[in-house]
Amino acid sequence: MNITVIGTGYVGLVSGVCFSELGNNVICVDNNVEKVNMLTDGHVPIYEPGLKDIMNANMKAGRLSFTTNIQDAISRSDIIIIAVGTPSLPNGEANLSFIELVAREIGSYMDNYKIIMTKSTVPVGTNDRIQEWISSLTNHPFDMASVPEFLREGTAVQDTLYPDRIVIGTHSERAVATLKELHQPLTDQIIVTDIRSAEMIKYASNAFLATKISFINEISNICEKVGADVSRVAEGMGYDRRIGASFLKAGIGYGGSCFPKDTQALIQIAGNVDYDFKLLKSVVEVNKDQRFNVIRKLEDALGSLEGKEIAIWGLAFKPDTDDVRDAPAIEIIQRLLEQGAVIRAYDPIATENFRKEVDSPSITWEERAMKAAEGADALCVLTEWKEFMEVNLTDLAAHMNQPILIDGRNIYGEDQIKDTSFQYYSVGRPGLTNIDGRKTAVI
Ligand code: UDX
Repeated sequence: MNITVIGTGYVGLVSGVCFSELGNNVICVDNNVEKVNMLTDGHVPIYEPGLKDIMNANMKAGRLSFTTNIQDAISRSDIIIIAVGTPSLPNGEANLSFIELVAREIGSYMDNYKIIMTKSTVPVGTNDRIQEWISSLTNHPFDMASVPEFLREGTAVQDTLYPDRIVIGTHSERAVATLKELHQPLTDQIIVTDIRSAEMIKYASNAFLATKISFINEISNICEKVGADVSRVAEGMGYDRRIGASFLKAGIGYGGSCFPKDTQALIQIAGNVDYDFKLLKSVVEVNKDQRFNVIRKLEDALGSLEGKEIAIWGLAFKPDTDDVRDAPAIEIIQRLLEQGAVIRAYDPIATENFRKEVDSPSITWEERAMKAAEGADALCVLTEWKEFMEVNLTDLAAHMNQPILIDGRNIYGEDQIKDTSFQYYSVGRPGLTNIDGRKTAVI
């Protein structure tokens, strides 16, 4: 099939590359000339394992190209995928200005029947508006479809090529037939529904996953007080197939480009129809506060943080990405700076992006994890990068001024801690006893 993807952000680029991998001819359009040149030269602007190789192989095979010429791309395609961003407005609502712009361009350049497939996450009813924007500028026939994207950063290629399900929302049988054929190589689990339900499935899925995370984080806070271990609790819950084991990892809360934005947007969508989405509001509240448990634990161990040297391991919102959008590390570091702490930060790949969000003369950006920990009064692990799991903890403790470890992601187990001198705080697990027989306080 001949496909144009408009927008080469996470969703657009990965979808475009993966559709070309399935043998389709794909043109990816972006209005950012620099980005298009970079992609044409075979470079990927995001860190996504596996993406570059597949992209280059398909460009070489002549199935994938990048351009700023939207008119030419549209005229050569039967399916147009809209994958531009929908950032948050100050009230939490999704900003649809990029979507409208693209819809109007599509309307201006339509020259025969096409399927317009929206992959951007858009509020319920937006595809109807896209339809109106396009129809106001063309008499050529077209069908609208909402096909939401569920990929995760860091595993985006895998998620796209092996999805749990594909949701196709459309009112056209012709579009159903074509889009089923397009997605059939990926999965048999194809759900066909109306456009508004498809739009809602995306928000409801993200909101539900965010709810699972806030739920287990609250359970973890209670576990700390009653002496239970949240990782065992989550394991015990997860075997129940009605609950499922995934997204029950307690930590410092969710971040990233989707959950924070989409939960706020769904609260707003509900508010617009006079519905107070109380549960989701609490999920957001719990998430906002969870990250500050790291500070509370630091204060428990050190008292005042004024002048204390705090090492931070991990700045990205999760491992295997350099994305720091809404990363809990941002607010944690800002709060530490407000309290007069001196920061030594390290992340394998996200430092450059992070510095654009927070920078201060009180932060030293280190290029090695051990260097960041050297002489520190405490170390906070904020992202569960694999390299942090593999360090020699005895060595680490010896490098530090005070062996205090706040493990915000529960990456170390009791068997690793018990032979060290660390005063160790984790999330929702009872205080562990270290080599000196010292048990971490429960706060
Ligand atoms: C998410 C959705 O998973 C994906 O389907 C959607 O398309 C986009 O949003 P992503 O933001 O890439 O994907 O990351 P994800 O792996 O879902 O993690 C989101 C956040 O939740 C991270 O900050 C992560 O650390 C946190 N998380 C996740 C937890 O704290 N506990 C968990 O058990 C799972």
